[in-house]
Amino acid sequence: MPALVIGTGYGGCVAALRLAQAGVDVHMIEMGMAWDTPGADGKIFATTTSPDQRSYWLRTKTKQPLSNFLGFPIDRTIPRYTGVLDAEEFAGITVYQGRGVGGGSLVNGGMAVTPRREYFGGILPTVNPDEMYDVYYPRANTELGANLIDPEWFETTDWYQFARVGRKQAQRSGFPFVFVPTVYDWDYMEQEAAGTVPKSALAGEILYGNNYGKKSLQKTYLPKIRATGRVTISPLHRVTTVEPTSGGYTVTMEQLNTTGDTVATKQVTAARVFFAAGSVGTSKLLVKLKSTGALPNLNGEVGKGWGDNGNVMCGRANHMWDPTGPSQSTIPTLGIDNWVNGGAFAEVAPLPTGIETYASFYLSITKTPNRGEFSWNAATGKAELNWQTAWKQTSIDAAKSIFDKINAKEGTIYRTDLFGVYKVWGDQLTYHPLGGAILNRATDNYGRLHGYPGLYVIDGSLIPGSTAVNPFVTITALAERNIENIIATDL
Ligand code: FDA
Repeated sequence: MPALVIGTGYGGCVAALRLAQAGVDVHMIEMGMAWDTPGADGKIFATTTSPDQRSYWLRTKTKQPLSNFLGFPIDRTIPRYTGVLDAEEFAGITVYQGRGVGGGSLVNGGMAVTPRREYFGGILPTVNPDEMYDVYYPRANTELGANLIDPEWFETTDWYQFARVGRKQAQRSGFPFVFVPTVYDWDYMEQEAAGTVPKSALAGEILYGNNYGKKSLQKTYLPKIRATGRVTISPLHRVTTVEPTSGGYTVTMEQLNTTGDTVATKQVTAARVFFAAGSVGTSKLLVKLKSTGALPNLNGEVGKGWGDNGNVMCGRANHMWDPTGPSQSTIPTLGIDNWVNGGAFAEVAPLPTGIETYASFYLSITKTPNRGEFSWNAATGKAELNWQTAWKQTSIDAAKSIFDKINAKEGTIYRTDLFGVYKVWGDQLTYHPLGGAILNRATDNYGRLHGYPGLYVIDGSLIPGSTAVNPFVTITALAERNIENIIATDL
């Protein structure tokens, strides 16, 4: 096989599409399922309000980001299954990731945000901003289908009352708010609201997959990849080892059944291997391969520079005269930008419970100096991350630069019932893992791994821990930049 791609998220899809278009045959390996067959209820994915086996990767109990509501734990028992959302637990942090053909695009909120150009030097200091903002960000946004909500509809629909309340309160405290692009099909959402099509974002779909309106990679890059006729995709196959062999690399993988057991072990040989297993997946593989002697010449940077994009969540309790509405779309559209003054960019997020909660809910992306490191533990045979929960304090402080001010202005308080009992901050998790194989350190300035010609990294692990906004547009744009250089130079 000329090229093998480990993982089918953003980085993997960009690599596979551009290689195939350049005439290279590609084999994509994906540990998760294909997500192309409806379940007994006629739907491929479950909703947030009724999670079932399809919702979680090999867990027997849900692990919802909002673990409690009004003081009660809301997690429930489910059958163990190769479901779509992995809540992967490390010491000090749970890292949420998508599992399946399409990677994180299957589960994410679809917010397609290009960082402001003046922040770019702090995100990827060795990449030329001109080429990113002139060529690769526009290319990524076009391919992903990023677009904005119709402002008129935003102002009038009940489904975005929660966002209008969030905007009003941000403005009253003097914060700049921005509409953020998403990859949701807004025409479809308006039809959902009109009742003429099956509901998706308006039926609580998010986190565990969207059945209709979200343009995940299943609707963008993947159909184009299939149309080339040059790409084979193997779902439910997990790569465990990559080793040099004559003419390339031997890739070992386990075939899984839907309860997560290994049913077969296979090997293929590829001239080039692209690591696109996501920040966590790629980091775990690289530290293992270096430490166990499969790829001993990888440099000492592998596993390093891992960050959580400063994710922290919180809720605020509004007054009775500021209801956020019982009907809330799951797709956020607004951000509060306090990056320069307070180091925080906060999304006004929905809390789609179906009842009036008087709560405003936010996911903040914050500036934080803390970076973790993956290492291989030979005794347990597992990769570990040295994250500490206390490292989230800088993120909490940054988020407080927005919400303390809003609370003071509005005379309101934080909710304490969403993340546990009397717990204000959702600081136990990230949705945005980044880093572990930093560009121009573990690799050259285009993702070629040092020490091994023909091995590349092409996913979020290249980015040093923060993108200042939601990451997938930057991951896609960087992958477009890198694969163009790799195809022109190496093939
Ligand atoms: P990605 O994680 O997408 O893909 C990696 C793939 O490799 C996965 O499919 C995985 O199963 C597979 N894999 C891993 N190890 C493997 C192995 N050993 N063998 C075979 N396959 C393997 N971002 C954003 O910009 N806007 C948003 O609104 C959100 N919202 C959001 C919500 C939630 C709930 C989550 C979990 C995440 C987000 N994100 C987001 C983050 C975004 O989804 C994420 O940054 C990208 O998906 C990362 O893209 P990558 O290409 O790096 O890997």
